[in-house]
Amino acid sequence: MNFTGAHILSIKQFERADIKRIFDVADAMEPYALRKKVTRVLEGAILGNMFFEPSTRTRVSFGAAFNLLGGNVRETTGFESSSITKGESLYDTARVLSGYSDVICMRHPAGGSVAEFAEGSRVPVINGGDGPNEHPTQALLDLYTIRKEMRSKGRGLDGLRIAMIGDLKHGRTVHSLCKLVSLFSDIQLTLISPKELAMPEYIVEELRMAGNKVTITDDLTHSISDIDIAYSTRIQEERFGNKEEADMYRGRYRLNQRIYTEHCQPNTVIMHPLPRDSREEANELDNDLNANPNLAIFRQADNGVLVRMALFALVLNVADQVDKYSREV
Ligand code: CP
Repeated sequence: MNFTGAHILSIKQFERADIKRIFDVADAMEPYALRKKVTRVLEGAILGNMFFEPSTRTRVSFGAAFNLLGGNVRETTGFESSSITKGESLYDTARVLSGYSDVICMRHPAGGSVAEFAEGSRVPVINGGDGPNEHPTQALLDLYTIRKEMRSKGRGLDGLRIAMIGDLKHGRTVHSLCKLVSLFSDIQLTLISPKELAMPEYIVEELRMAGNKVTITDDLTHSISDIDIAYSTRIQEERFGNKEEADMYRGRYRLNQRIYTEHCQPNTVIMHPLPRDSREEANELDNDLNANPNLAIFRQADNGVLVRMALFALVLNVADQVDKYSREV
């Protein structure tokens, strides 16, 4: 694809070569993210960072990524601070804000809303999560992390075995990651969830059509003995009708050090898009795993900065100029 000026709305817009390009640029961003080098390649540029749902990682890492490239960040958080509460449409909001920004990142509770916003925007729009639909930049950083973790164990992505665990119906991160995996043809996926929270059928069909092997189960312990990646997810309470409904599923799939030791192979990498729900009644990924060197969740969050720097550099067409405007620290 031609990245310059493109909206990043869905994983479906990418081909394998695009993913390689993003990961190559992300690799080149490491000295800047580690502040061994400083670049001013986006000096004077403005990111409009608009988050209408809670976020810690995505919002702050988009902002940090833009700052690390030398740009400035303007934030809007919550509907209450936006004229959308006065009835302004997403289209009008986009027309206006794209006059003040060079690129816009947006999170919104309704599926399809970021694409609707992008129709009115005169600058690239990046989807930071639209309801239960997609979270494309999370999927990119997840696969980038998987590639790094596998490389550190002398492995590639060929024949990879991934288990996705938890609320696969509402989890936009696993939806996007499955769509990304559908670009590959030899990955084994085990989808572990309560039957009511299963991965949408159309996504399973896409995975199978691409040639990947998909197993669907509601059993955790017997399904994680032969995998490379255990990708845990939170019960997405905000997508249920009420808290009581979400409570029915909370805590059903807990991964802790005992279960890991008894059921997983010793090198199994543990991932989670975060936030993990640390309340006792939920606790899908126990704190007692924090000392486990295969717990990749914080490396995963760190990688978000690299991947988001790469996306900014590509859509603003400065990927080849980052070094030119740089200095050693
Ligand atoms: N993974 C993720 O999207 O985290 P936040 O909701 O904190 O942005």
